[in-house]
This record gives sequence, C-alpha cells and structure tokens, in this order.
Amino acid sequence: MHLLRPLDSADLPLLLPFGEDPGVWRGLGLAAAPDEAAWRSRLASPSGDVFHRFGIFSEGGLSAFGELQCNMRARARHCAWLFLGGRQHGHAEILLRNMLSFSDLWLGAARLECSLDAEDPLGPLLLAQGFVRETLKPGHRDGPRRDVAIYSRLRPGWTPDAPTSPPPFPAADSRMIPHIRPIRPSDATEMAAGMADERVAWGTLQLPSACGDYWRTRLEKPSGSMFVAEVNGQVAGTAGFHPYPAPSAHAAGLGMSVHAPWQGRGVAGPLMETVIATAKAQGLQRIDLEVYSDNERAIRLYRRFGFVKEGTKRYDVWRFGGHASSDVMGLQLA
Ligand SMILES: CC(C)(COP(=O)(O)OP(=O)(O)OC[C@H]1O[C@@H](n2cnc3c(N)ncnc32)[C@H](O)[C@@H]1OP(=O)(O)O)[C@@H](O)C(=O)NCCC(=O)NCCS
Repeated sequence: MHLLRPLDSADLPLLLPFGEDPGVWRGLGLAAAPDEAAWRSRLASPSGDVFHRFGIFSEGGLSAFGELQCNMRARARHCAWLFLGGRQHGHAEILLRNMLSFSDLWLGAARLECSLDAEDPLGPLLLAQGFVRETLKPGHRDGPRRDVAIYSRLRPGWTPDAPTSPPPFPAADSRMIPHIRPIRPSDATEMAAGMADERVAWGTLQLPSACGDYWRTRLEKPSGSMFVAEVNGQVAGTAGFHPYPAPSAHAAGLGMSVHAPWQGRGVAGPLMETVIATAKAQGLQRIDLEVYSDNERAIRLYRRFGFVKEGTKRYDVWRFGGHASSDVMGLQLA
C-alpha cells in the first residue's frame, strides 16, 4: 500500500533519511545529502501557491518526492520547474504521472522543465511521459564533473503564440571603442533608461517597465561580477556573470545588453573580453547563457568568442507578443 499526498515540515523525520540516498539528492540537483536545516529551508516556502510538493509514503517511509515550482518571472509565468527524487523507481513513476496531471488540471503550466544528471535513471521516466531532452550541458555539475540534461514537456494541446519579429534595430554605424569598468549602483538610472527601449528588452529577460529603483536594489547587492561599457562618459551597455550555486559553483551564467544607440558598433566585444578574463581569473571553468534562437546578432557575437550551442529550450519566454525559444550556449574556460 502506498499513499500520495502533499508534504510539509511535519514530514521532516521522513525526509531526512530519504534524502541521504545519493540517487535522491543528485536527482534533486543538490551538492550533498540535505541536512535538517537544508530541508527546513526548502520547506520554508510552504506548498500551496508557488511551490507544490508531494510525496509517496509506503511502509512508514517516504519512497518518492516531487516538487513543482512555478516560475514567477513576469515573462516566464507559463513555465514551472519539476524536481523529482525517488528511492523506488515504480513510485517515482506513479508520482510523476500524478504531478503531471496535477499541473495540467490545476496549474495550467504550459512548459515544465526538469534538469537531471545526463545519466540519471529518472531521465527515461521523463521521456516516457512526453518530455523531450532539449539540452546537454557538459560538465555542468561538480563532484565528480557530470553532464546535465535539461528535459521539458509542453502541456498537451497547448499552442504557443508564434514568435514575433524584433522591433527595427538601428542600422550599423561607425564603430566605437568603449571604456570598460565595474558597474556601480549610481549607474541604475542610465541602465533603466537603456533597458526601457524595446530594442534592448527584446533580447533579454527584462521588461521595459523596470525603473531606476529596481536596478539600484539589484546593483547594491550584486550576486556576481558586472561591468559597464562607457562611451563619452555615458553607459552604452552592460554585461555580467553570476556563479551558480553548488554543485555548479565552477560555472556561471552570462547576461549582456548594449543600449540601442550603440548597437552594431562593436561595443559588445570589449565587454565580452572583460567578462571572460574576469571569469577565468576567478577560477571559473565554464560560462553559459541563454539567447533567443532568432537573435542572430547576439548568436554571431557569442560564436565569435567560442560559445557552442548545447540545445534549445522550446517556447520558454514570452517576448514582444509571442513565445520565443532560447538556445543554450556554453564556453569551457578550463
Ligand atoms: C546582442 C548585442 C549584445 C550585441 O552587441 P553589439 O555591440 O550590438 O554587437 P556588435 O556591434 O559587436 O555586433 C555583433 C555582431 O553582429 C553583427 N551586426 C551588427 N549590426 C548588425 C545588424 N544591424 N544586422 C546584422 N548583423 C549585425 C556585427 O557585424 C557583429 O558580427 P561579427 O562579430 O561577426 O563582426 C546587442 O545588440 C544587444 O544588446 N541587443 C539587445 C539585447 C540582447 O539581445 N542581448 C543579448 C542577450 S542574450
């Protein structure tokens, strides 16, 4: 007999021994078996709104754990992440089927995404339930270095809105040599003004509504290294990278944008050189990024710096009146 029900902190005594199984904590994308504090922090945002956690209980123990986390970014609200850990393959499969049905009937998530070690035995379970293996990130997890596969499932019957064409980009103009320096909170107002332009927001995950205060708050507590390209004392573009948490702390995600008047004038190259040199100096071994599959200009730039396509995430972002897909690109630094 087994019982499937939502989980909460009262289940901690069962979660602790369950999480010690390496097959479980690796499946959940963790660096090590979670201790009580780690489980408590995971359960701190209770299941019921953004998080939806279920377990399968059998013979007094927990045999499978699943979590759906709704994406709260304004442009990805149609997406959710799936985390799955199971000690019994059969129970993981039952849990997965129930969670997919729950998602379709109650969350309406159009796209579910799940990242696993490439060799994780849960991968075939996902494929059997309509997931597609979209991306392979080589060496993305540490200890020892493991490849990560990203799987996704589009809700049956969901039709994405076709991606729209970009707003007209400025014609290529004379080339500029920018001055590159670390970003400062006082750059927030200029950054907001640049991002408010649809020709910039189009290529990013940002919204044209983000104001100076929003950027100031982010820049006052930076989570990585960010740089500004200055032309004639003005902010012409920004780029930065943010190291991932363990077990991917040797890798970082990259973001970049050049303000519309300066696009197509060679500003991105020196920014990218600084980003790569700084990441290497910090001992990072891998940088990756996500770029819309139709953002030819950016893809051309990334290829020039050695980035290689690792896969495509289908319809993962709402952009300028349509659903856009993103290419994942990676650069090995060591
Ligand atoms: C993508 C972006 C960062 C590139 O920066 P940039 O300073 O404009 O880039 P560059 O001037 O170095 O041009 C990049 C490449 O596109 C080419 N290019 C420039 N203008 C172009 C145009 N109008 N049409 C087609 N190709 C163009 C350049 O020749 C260059 O190719 P090359 O490296 O083979 O010489 C910038 O345009 C931008 O911020 N766009 C909006 C936000 C965005 O898309 N960010 C990327 C997030 S992943």
